[in-house]
Amino acid sequence: MNPLDPLPLLGGLAPAQFMTRFWQKKPLLVRQALAGVDGLVGREELFALATQEHVSSRLIQRVGRNWTLAHGPFRRRALPALRQPDWTLLVQGVDLHLEAVHQLMQRFRFLPDARLDDVMISYASVGGGVGPHFDSYDVFLLQTQGRRRWRIGRAKDKTLRSGLPLRILARFVAEQEYLLAPGDMLYLPPGYAHDGVALDDCVTCSIGFRAPGRRELGLELLQRMAEAGSDFDKNVLYRDAAQTARARPAQLPRELKQFAEQAVRHALRRPRALSQALGEYLSEPARSVWFDSQAAPRAYHGVMLDRKTRMLYDGRHIFVNGESYRAARPDAGLMQRFADQRQLCNDELSRASPAARALIKEWIKAGWAHGR
Ligand code: SIN
Ligand code: CO
Repeated sequence: MNPLDPLPLLGGLAPAQFMTRFWQKKPLLVRQALAGVDGLVGREELFALATQEHVSSRLIQRVGRNWTLAHGPFRRRALPALRQPDWTLLVQGVDLHLEAVHQLMQRFRFLPDARLDDVMISYASVGGGVGPHFDSYDVFLLQTQGRRRWRIGRAKDKTLRSGLPLRILARFVAEQEYLLAPGDMLYLPPGYAHDGVALDDCVTCSIGFRAPGRRELGLELLQRMAEAGSDFDKNVLYRDAAQTARARPAQLPRELKQFAEQAVRHALRRPRALSQALGEYLSEPARSVWFDSQAAPRAYHGVMLDRKTRMLYDGRHIFVNGESYRAARPDAGLMQRFADQRQLCNDELSRASPAARALIKEWIKAGWAHGR
């Protein structure tokens, strides 16, 4: 995708303009961002997904000023009647299950894959919604069925109501109000308050971009580097031959503190280990994801990634589903293209080294990719 080409998806803005003017900065309403999305995911299709064990779903009902929350899976009959107002069913990670939704997500690849989280889809009966709240991630709210009234505001006061199973703002002040019809889309940066209420049988897709937290990344990467580091796991022990006899035994030795500081600095001295751990972590599939192994076809004329596969790269590595590979030239360029395009044609495949082709065959056998 050329970042300078205007997109109807962004109301005629080029991705480059959208990123400078709106991304993480302010909301953008796009009328008719996508044509032909009416019924992209049917209500019954969503309900069927919510019956499945490995699919994460929630049922939220509003009763006056109160809210109830239940977690799936839900038997079809456990869902309220369609004519009953004020309820909503939210299904997470629909892009992993429905090809049309996976394809929808591909339209947002002017953003880094490493930021893309999932597509959550909600069905709501009249009056249904999750209440005024804010999220910690960027989100594109695409209306695909029915109408929804969105009220949004800057959430200067982030106090939440207590005693509720949901994060609902205590004092929500709406600054703008929009009525969205199928094909309309609203982009919201993190922390922006919003409240969407269904006006009729309503389906909304949330294309969400999670931002990793500093603490989460710090903890995860240190642990990974400690576990995988080649010289880090050479467990050098603290030595204190110069330790003097103590009159105050409970006091921490200064040398031990220095040793601890060295240990942490040592782990961080290896920037390659850090970017390897980062790529492995960010390419790890969601916990609920599994792949079905398959026989590799005898011959194939192209290869494409499975929609559940996460493939990333940096200057030295290729990362696939939590694994890292060193890619040497000329395979490096080819594998990077594979990650960007999520497929390789016959021509490209024929330029791969035997080692790269063997690796791709392993990925096919693991169900991470498919031959065509
Ligand atoms: C919804 O689809 O009802 C929830 C979307 C959101 O507010 O983040
Ligand atoms: Co939200």
